[in-house]
Amino acid sequence: MSVDSTETFRGLPVSHTDFTSYTEIYEHYRRLDADREAARFQFNDTTERGFFMLQRYDDVQRGFQQHATWTTAVRSALNPGIGEPLLPQDLNGSAHQKLRKILNQFFSPVAIRRMEPQARARCIELIEELRPAGRCDFVQEFAIRFPTDLFLSILGLPTSDGEKFVVWSEEFFAAMLSGDMSTATVAKKNIMDYFTEAVNERRAHPGDPDVDMVSRLVQADIDGEALSHDDILTILLTLMLAGLDTTRSALGYIFTHLAQHPEDRQRLIDEPEMVPKAMEEFLRLYPLVFQAGREVQEDGEFDGLQLAKGDVVWIGIAQANRDPRKYDDPDTFDMDRHGASTHLAFGGGPHRCLGMHLARMGIKVVLEEWHPRIPDYRISDGVELTERGGQLTLPTLPLEWEA
Ligand code: HEM
Repeated sequence: MSVDSTETFRGLPVSHTDFTSYTEIYEHYRRLDADREAARFQFNDTTERGFFMLQRYDDVQRGFQQHATWTTAVRSALNPGIGEPLLPQDLNGSAHQKLRKILNQFFSPVAIRRMEPQARARCIELIEELRPAGRCDFVQEFAIRFPTDLFLSILGLPTSDGEKFVVWSEEFFAAMLSGDMSTATVAKKNIMDYFTEAVNERRAHPGDPDVDMVSRLVQADIDGEALSHDDILTILLTLMLAGLDTTRSALGYIFTHLAQHPEDRQRLIDEPEMVPKAMEEFLRLYPLVFQAGREVQEDGEFDGLQLAKGDVVWIGIAQANRDPRKYDDPDTFDMDRHGASTHLAFGGGPHRCLGMHLARMGIKVVLEEWHPRIPDYRISDGVELTERGGQLTLPTLPLEWEA
């Protein structure tokens, strides 16, 4: 583990830090902080291709702007070979812009505000289902279910399908992270059949394309050419993969923090107007997508770092969010922090998260609706929390309260 100061690669210190294993909770942030402080730029040799790490806030922010020559031909520095196509991620340049333009309208602040009452009602229903038991696995029983229902309603599909959908998407995502899609063939077929049915239904009975995303995708064209059926399915699959695990994971870290810090929880109950600020600070402190990958398309230099065509770059989101050069006392939660929303948890540049307003709305609604109903909760005794590397998540978070 960690940086070897005697070994160099193209003049850079070599890091052997593994960011892909299951560890105790918060261990990845410790490793990320340690690497950032060991050297500004370094080469990590734990993957077949290795990767060049940008880790300081200013470098990471500028890294996201190198899109003319660094592309998403590699999406994750940790897993450059993921074969599964994704849209819009896999596009770059003007083709990417054109597809984003079609999708952006469904994820704009206005569109998301329109969804909020429905999201709130569903959130309350789920909490009320759990409340009488006095305990739940927050991650398994709530944090994944709520974003799944939001996702289905954005597509205009019934939330009653949420239960079966959660199982398929979990299996599919786990297989993708492990790099072995053969373990998810049944899940993939179920998901694709489900989406195909939804798309065919909209072809036969189009809804209002201004508010119904599938209807819009079916009718959309780019430069006069309709989106293919396969592209539409890929877009839907991408939204599922990008939106469900991330929101679940964010909620897992936030509720772990609140269960362990009753004073912060109490403040959110006493001053609900602090929820948006607290949420930005949570997103800064607990980023789940802790890196984005890019592939260098032509030889060049990044502020003294020499890069060659084909190199893999690590854009260190979590390291930027916890960079002491940018934030005072960066590893501490500070609800009153000025400028917390300058965090890079949603990335930057043209590939910045399409679903960030949806994610924010979902988290805000949960914080606002959970606490009036279950104000006082704790992590069950004897539980040792762990986290998954690659893209952070808590596999489980058992909570208890007085029913
Ligand atoms: C807390 C929750 C979330 C976090 C932390 C997050 C984080 C990110 C990050 C860091 C990126 C940029 C990746 C890169 O530059 O390569 C990204 C892209 C993306 N996200 Fe999110 N995301 C979240 C929720 C969502 C949701 C709810 C959706 C939609 C349902 C979504 C859809 C997308 C899509 C489609 C992209 C690719 C955008 C593009 O390439 O143009 N995300 N997300």
